[in-house]
Amino acid sequence: MTSASAPGKIILVGEHAVVYGRPALAVPVTQVHAEAQVTRSSRPGVWIEAPDIGLRAELASLPVDHPLAALIRELFQRAGLKQFPALEITIRSTIPVGSGLGSGAAVSVALARALSAELGGRPSDAQVSELAFEIEKLHHGTPSGIDNAVIAHARPVYFVRGQPLQSFTVGRPMTLVLGDTGLSAPTKESVGDVRRLWEHDPQKWEAVFGSIGVIAERSRRAIEAGELERLGELLDRNHALLQELTVSSPELDRLSAAARSAGALGAKLSGGGRGGNMLALTRSELAGQVCAALKDAGARSVITTVVE
Ligand code: PMV
Repeated sequence: MTSASAPGKIILVGEHAVVYGRPALAVPVTQVHAEAQVTRSSRPGVWIEAPDIGLRAELASLPVDHPLAALIRELFQRAGLKQFPALEITIRSTIPVGSGLGSGAAVSVALARALSAELGGRPSDAQVSELAFEIEKLHHGTPSGIDNAVIAHARPVYFVRGQPLQSFTVGRPMTLVLGDTGLSAPTKESVGDVRRLWEHDPQKWEAVFGSIGVIAERSRRAIEAGELERLGELLDRNHALLQELTVSSPELDRLSAAARSAGALGAKLSGGGRGGNMLALTRSELAGQVCAALKDAGARSVITTVVE
């Protein structure tokens, strides 16, 4: 039997613009995770069980573009297997689906590691990230690759599409409170809507992406220097630009405003937007107050995480 797990993630700054070549920053969120377990079986076939999404199926019965089936087939092919072994694969996840915490990428990373190990392989983080990226394309259409990168490498990343991955240092611990709107919003749709805006007026939207890219650069410097007030302002500005991009929602705006009123240094939506999670940066001593304010403002659940 082999097993592996992978953390969730949160994008600090730069989502959407990152699809258009601008930098973005993301960090792992270890309070939630996906887990895969692979066991040899006496029953023929490759059985996949994912109770969180109500799935119990044999590999051959799943469509070729089903993310789990596609990943398993890809791993069998890379291992050069002509005949599929008899296996039981169980996947569990505490990461809410469609909430901007990287549930799809975390499942891919955990499954790729567990199944590779069962087949006698030991892929590097970069190889696991590349595999998960192929599967992200089935979830998202045109992913930037930031989700698979931060989750496979499980460290803070400064990500620019098509460039070697960079990490960044954290000058002073950052307390983040994540508030879930409870609304599941497909990233594919918000990314598609932004694409249509951009196609209609590339000059206008390139300028917005450029501003977001500058915010991401400045945020990295603020994080490295431990300038959390400065980072808070940058998060607020990033949220305003995401509103312009039409990917916020009344719920995300309400939660962000509630966090700021409760003393957060800054707040913004995170990920694809329209629903899912927002994040607030706060002084550690105010984290409880910010959590309470988010719950009062309707957050379905709240997670506090410290990035060090
Ligand atoms: O919704 P999430 O957490 O998967 O994040 C998507 C981030 C985007 O920049 C909107 C898309 C991408 O592929 O980078």
